[in-house]
Amino acid sequence: MRIHGRHYRTIFPAQDGEGVSIIDQTKLPFDFALERLATLEDAAVAIEVMKVRGAPLIGATAAYGLALAMMRDASDAALEAALARLARTRPTAVNLHWALARVAAVLRPLSPPERRIAAAWAEAGAICDEDVEQNRMIGVHGAKILGEIHARTGRTVNVLTHCNAGWLATVDWGTAISPIYQAHDAGVPVHVWVDETRPRNQGAALTAYELGAHGVPHTVIVDNAGGHLMQHGQVDICFVGSDRTTADGDVANKIGTYLKALAAKDNGVPFYVTLPVTTIDWALRDGVAEISIEERSAREVTHLVGETDDGRIETVRVVAPGSPAANPAFDVTPSRLVTGLITERGVCEASRAGLAGLYPEHARQAAE
Ligand code: MRU
Repeated sequence: MRIHGRHYRTIFPAQDGEGVSIIDQTKLPFDFALERLATLEDAAVAIEVMKVRGAPLIGATAAYGLALAMMRDASDAALEAALARLARTRPTAVNLHWALARVAAVLRPLSPPERRIAAAWAEAGAICDEDVEQNRMIGVHGAKILGEIHARTGRTVNVLTHCNAGWLATVDWGTAISPIYQAHDAGVPVHVWVDETRPRNQGAALTAYELGAHGVPHTVIVDNAGGHLMQHGQVDICFVGSDRTTADGDVANKIGTYLKALAAKDNGVPFYVTLPVTTIDWALRDGVAEISIEERSAREVTHLVGETDDGRIETVRVVAPGSPAANPAFDVTPSRLVTGLITERGVCEASRAGLAGLYPEHARQAAE
């Protein structure tokens, strides 16, 4: 993604090779600020407070967190402590655990332990490179669907999206937004309805920011507007991301995704979930029963951050003093509400058979 005329990945090794650069997403859309992660604790806190967020980027940051930990102490004890610290940061996105397990499998057998330093950097880099390519391919498959809608209707394709499943949620391209970028770049007229995505406003603050930077026409709407727009034929298709997808095709994503899927079903609007293989939890079947849903601070509901007309960043309370607030951060959309899954390997039905068809090497694991 190009910002201010320069191409950026959302995470990359610092030039001196001793730290990792991220974009502090808590400052967007007001300030585009790079931040340096120098220690394991820096990486863990960046995930917890959501300086980095989005399932694939959480996984990539965790992998670099292990590399930072190994630079200080590459012993067995330090490796296990770093894995435990990073695993505690956020519970729902399975990419975190996938990335930790992948890097740990490379590092644990290495002797002497100092060999773990270079190996951790290399594995984290490989995870990032693979994420970029997977998201590019999700874009290729998804853009085809947008092109077909345009060819059939001859009109601008109106896509509704929830949360931020764009460049900022991944290492590059995004998942749900990658098809939009690729269709737009290929000359397919696309317009995006951007759900603001309370409580943290990932849509209003992040998706709108990156669509604007890329020149994609878009309109921010409140989270409750989607159903109304669908009833009036103003949404052709929904594209959302996933934090954890079960082997049966249930999808955990940002809170509110389920309600959009219900409205889409009622109005005959295709509802697609875009995801790289790293988001599939082959050990799970029933997402509602089995996926652990993160409960975040009530303060994210009771308070909002914004910019005043004279350019000051302020935090204000929007809830009556004394009223308690609850903040479940994700919900699960059952596979029956999902039209299809768009992965780096192509499009499939949201079902065990659909996923097994695209990933035969995982089919046996899922069946056990
Ligand atoms: O709480 P967040 O901002 O990390 O939640 C992000 C989402 O729900 C995204 O839609 C999901 O991670 C897919 S990102 C490609």
